[in-house]
This record gives sequence, structure tokens and C-alpha cells, in this order.
Amino acid sequence: MLRLTVFVSGRGSNLQAIHTAVSQRRLHAEIVGVVSNRSASPALEFAQTQQISRLSLEDKQAQQQGYEILAFLEQTRTDFIALAGYMKLIPPEVVTAYRHRITNIHPALLPSFGGKGMYGRHVHEAVLSSGVKVSGATVHLVDEEYDRGPIVMQRCVPVLDDDTPEALATRVLEVEHTIYPEALQLFAEERVELQGNRIITRS
Ligand code: GAR
Repeated sequence: MLRLTVFVSGRGSNLQAIHTAVSQRRLHAEIVGVVSNRSASPALEFAQTQQISRLSLEDKQAQQQGYEILAFLEQTRTDFIALAGYMKLIPPEVVTAYRHRITNIHPALLPSFGGKGMYGRHVHEAVLSSGVKVSGATVHLVDEEYDRGPIVMQRCVPVLDDDTPEALATRVLEVEHTIYPEALQLFAEERVELQGNRIITRS
């Protein structure tokens, strides 16, 4: 059973998908905290309706944030962190304290179309203008850089001839909502093994 804190910035549809998977017992976890860099995010409102402990970083100074986050994680007895549409870098002291226990979801097939500035619509625009025929979603472990870190799970979606960034985003998001709970469940079952930069899933 994971004690999970989810980091969000905005809409929170992945948070809701994780929450649904927990209630349907597809994911053996408890969401014990939600952290947002924006105090007005719908994701934080959702957490409030579910009476989940919350931390907003909006009015916290940059140098204070690592300390604030670690205090919150200790208070909620968090043992795993899922970034779900969190658009900021995680402070290095948090990455160090939770090394190999932080995942992120990205709306493309990493290591392509990732890195600083590659979020939301920008990703799907870059995918379409590159001319690739498949895109998808990636769940990966988090390190000190944006969208780096060993890949836990990926799933493809086709890029269609008449796709717009919005249409592609919608198709990818559906896959995100499926694979994020699945990937987290691998950690709940302790089936994830790191071999160099590769993640092997034990059966
Ligand atoms: C999701 O598509 C997620 O993959 C993306 O932001 C969206 C958040 O939606 N994340 C990134 O682009 C990270 N580089 P949500 O708030 O509805 O879950």
C-alpha cells in the first residue's frame, strides 16, 4: 500500500484518474497529500472535496519550498510521490530524499519531445510539426532534470492525418489516465527493478 502524495499545477485529471483507481482498488494506495504550485488550481479544489491534506507553494519563497515540501511529506507520512501535470522542477533535496520514489507522467514518448518548456499543448504541437506517426504517454522516474529518468511504462497512440494539437492531446490523455495508475501499481506491488537506466518489471 503506497502512501501517495500527488503534485499538480492545474486541471488535475490525472489526479482524478489515480483517485478513481484507488477507490476501485485497481491501485493499492492511499492519496495522503496533494501539493500544488498554484493555490487556485482545480486539482487542489478536488483534493479539498476529498478531504485530502493540501499544500500550496504559491506564496512560498523559492528557497523555502524544499523545506516546506519535506515537512509536508513527513507530516503526511508520504512514501511515494506522483507528479501529475506538475510544471515545476522538484527541489533537489526532495529528489534526494525520495530517490527512485518519484514518478512523472509526460504526454509524449520520451526521450523525444521532453525537457524544459515541453508541457501541455507545446508537446503536441512539436509532435505534429515533426511528422512522426505515433505519439503516446510515458511514466518515468524523476531526477534533477525535466523529463529525464528511467522509463517505467509507455503506451502509443497513432498520430492521425487530420489531428490538431487538441485532438491528439485528448487521445493521449485517455492513455495517461490508464497507464499512470497501472505504473503506480507496479510500485505498490514492489515489482520495479532498476538496472542501470532500464526499469525491469518483475512478474
Ligand atoms: C497532462 O497531459 C500531463 O501529461 C502533462 O500535463 C497535463 C496535465 O493534465 N504534463 C506535462 O506536460 C509535463 N511535462 P491534468 O492536470 O489534467 O492531469
